[in-house]
Amino acid sequence: MRIAMIGGGYVGLVSGACFAEFGIHVSVVETNPARLSALREGRIPIYEPGLDSLVASNSQAGRLTFGDDIAQAVAGAEAVFIAVGTPPRNGDGAADLQYVHAAARQIAQAITGYTVIVTKSTVPVGTSRRIAEIIRTTRPEVDFDVASNPEFLREGSAIGDFMRPERVIIGLDQKQPERASRAEAVLRQVYRPLSSTDATLLFTGLETAELTKYASNSFLAMKISFINEMADLCEKLGADVHQLAKGMGLDSRIGREFLQPGPGYGGSCFPKDTLALSRIAQEAQSASRLVETTVQVNEARKAGMAGRIAAACGGSVAGKTVGVLGLTFKPETDDMRESASIPILHRLAEAGAQIKAFDPVGMDAAKPLLPEGVEYCTDALSVADGADVLVVLTEWNIFRALAPEALVARMRHGVVVDLRNIFDPAAMRAAGLQYQSVGRP
Ligand code: NAD
Ligand code: UDX
Repeated sequence: MRIAMIGGGYVGLVSGACFAEFGIHVSVVETNPARLSALREGRIPIYEPGLDSLVASNSQAGRLTFGDDIAQAVAGAEAVFIAVGTPPRNGDGAADLQYVHAAARQIAQAITGYTVIVTKSTVPVGTSRRIAEIIRTTRPEVDFDVASNPEFLREGSAIGDFMRPERVIIGLDQKQPERASRAEAVLRQVYRPLSSTDATLLFTGLETAELTKYASNSFLAMKISFINEMADLCEKLGADVHQLAKGMGLDSRIGREFLQPGPGYGGSCFPKDTLALSRIAQEAQSASRLVETTVQVNEARKAGMAGRIAAACGGSVAGKTVGVLGLTFKPETDDMRESASIPILHRLAEAGAQIKAFDPVGMDAAKPLLPEGVEYCTDALSVADGADVLVVLTEWNIFRALAPEALVARMRHGVVVDLRNIFDPAAMRAAGLQYQSVGRP
């Protein structure tokens, strides 16, 4: 079987490599020259654990190739996956579909025989039908169907998520049952290796599949905002948010996942997709007040974290040295998109703080987004040197191993604001640190 993957970013590259691992011949098309030349030279342009060896072995086996010639990749492919970006449109937060539409036009020109065009990008309801319209208008004679196959992988655990998903959602045009079953047969073949796992393949209509992606991400974002709100309440009432989350999560109707409090969710998906779902609901004249509120609550939370750090320093960070551990939006990725560190560091810099920071893999991506004057350290402990306050923004495992005594010895003032709750409060206080975390007494 042969497929093409349009877009070699976080989703396209991981999906392409995993499909190749399934035994499919995959041609990844990438137009960004820096990303493409890295891939052609055997370098992985993003940080994702395990991806380098997966790409190397499948490239060597001849099942995974990279290029910028869409015509060559699409010709003869049984399915073409669109995995290009759908960033928020400036101004209103709706998904910007220019890359998806451009890909559809390019694919239309290149189709040779019956092809299923599959949208993996996260796209508003109606996009798959719009892609079909673009292809029909561009080349009325071609034989094709469209499908919506939203991707649910998480950065940092993307390969495991892709290879052992809980569900795969495939939306088809159920208004045309014969065409839908032809496309279904192709996609069942693509995902056949998952039949030995617990994954559920769920076939739905196009609109339902598109909306399921936004609904899932918005629900998880809402769950995080809820536990963040409970963490604030725990602080006021002397309760412990981790015990609370465990107590709630043991009820299988609630579940234990995604109840970790923090500085507010970031990343390339939750902030963008909650905004886009708000727009989708407004356009459908069916506002989603819960999702709109989640967006506002999360933005306010990220912005408010600088105030929490200032309060820990006695009311102001002016003239103080703030050491920052972690910059990416979560561990095990180099992705800085919508990371809480961006608004927090800008506010700290505006308030007159001297900032030192370290992140194991995210510093190159962070530099263009963070305020000028941040000093980037070469290791975690150096961040503590001469710091008045140490702030944990991302829960990288190597930070968990830092000894409280080593921090005390290096800091000017021993104040630690742990926004990811990675340290043991008793051990920190026993070492003489003034320690604050999120939602714990
Ligand atoms: P990305 O920006 O990392 O990758 C997109 C890539 O597509 C870029 O490298 C770009 O150069 C390339 N591209 C754009 N137009 C092209 C074209 N016409 N031909 C070839 N290449 C082209 O984005 P991403 O994080 O991989 O996200 C892609 C989509 O998947 C988005 O809709 C996103 O919402 C969704 N998604 C992302 C994640 C995630 O964790 N990042 C998870 C699930 C879904
Ligand atoms: C998310 C979805 O989980 C995934 O299914 C979808 O395909 C893409 O978007 P991702 O953004 O890669 O994945 O990471 P995720 O682990 O969901 O974390 C997103 C943000 O939420 C991070 O900033 C993380 O720190 C935060 N988070 C997550 C919390 O604050 N608490 C939690 O309990 C979980």
